Amino acid sequence: MRLRNQRYFNKPDIHERMLADHVRVDAYHDAIEKHVGANDAVVDLGTGTGILAFFAAKKGARQVYAIDHGDIIEVARFLAAENNIDNVSFHKLHSTKFSPPEKISVIIHEQMGSELFNEYMIQNICDLRDRILAPGGRILPAKFELYLEPITLKESYRTPFLWEMNIHGLNLSGLKGWIENNAVFRSLSQSSAQRRILPDEVEMMLCTPEPVFHFDLNTAASATFACKWHQERIVGTSGRLDGFCLYFRTIFDDEISIRNGPNDTRTSWNCHLIRTEGLELTAGETLIVDWDVPDICNVSTWSVKVGQR
Ligand SMILES: C[S@@+](CC[C@H](N)C(=O)[O-])C[C@H]1O[C@@H](n2cnc3c(N)ncnc32)[C@H](O)[C@@H]1O
Repeated sequence: MRLRNQRYFNKPDIHERMLADHVRVDAYHDAIEKHVGANDAVVDLGTGTGILAFFAAKKGARQVYAIDHGDIIEVARFLAAENNIDNVSFHKLHSTKFSPPEKISVIIHEQMGSELFNEYMIQNICDLRDRILAPGGRILPAKFELYLEPITLKESYRTPFLWEMNIHGLNLSGLKGWIENNAVFRSLSQSSAQRRILPDEVEMMLCTPEPVFHFDLNTAASATFACKWHQERIVGTSGRLDGFCLYFRTIFDDEISIRNGPNDTRTSWNCHLIRTEGLELTAGETLIVDWDVPDICNVSTWSVKVGQR
């Protein structure tokens, strides 16, 4: 899995997309301008093209350690020389192998995946925090809100489950029971229960968004963990429930944050859809939602039970 992460981020087009994302880049720039100072020793975990390390260097950090396990770090090294940036050192290795000669006052990172925790953010940051961060040191960003919002998809993006279809009189409804009783198809159909979506695929949110989970890297205790979440949501707009849209808010402080939901300015992150069978909801009723999350870092293990009142 680590190798996949390393290879994925070696592709320049991924970095083009991330650097062209003004919402993302501007929030990091503002946060680094505000929270990095002249005496700081900074680690940029996963430096990629070096952009965040360079922001910290330009802000006047005493020393910036830019680390990345991928070949993309050579781009960062080149850009530092081209731009006469000399207070950044480059370390091509996995963060767990990095041991600086001093305690670090700021860890900067952009380790959020489209499902928030799927790029090993918790594991990587907790490891660095516990080994090299000085007491009182800062993690930028440290706080996150996770959203799982009931949505209706635009009709052109909606694919019903097989058993929900009736095609020119061919009734497929019996397939639901058949698949449930057939171990091979049951496990195959689990993989179709979720998919990445673009925020633009969402027609509307059915409730007023509220986070299902708050998370703080300053206090996180372990690399991964299980959760159970219960929500009672008042339906604000009548419509068909096609599933829950996973997105998140990355919080630097009370003023600076990034949100990548369907109603927000488009960012370089996708959203993630956890599909449900189409269910008509009426404004004013209560949607009762129970999430079982055996592994917070692996969204494919998550499941949801939905009730109406
Ligand atoms: C989402 S990109 C961010 C790149 C850059 N910081 C930016 O904001 O444009 C994440 C980068 O972290 C690197 N990375 C991920 N996990 C790492 C780890 N544990 N140690 C070193 N590099 C890592 C990847 O190779 C990738 O270049």
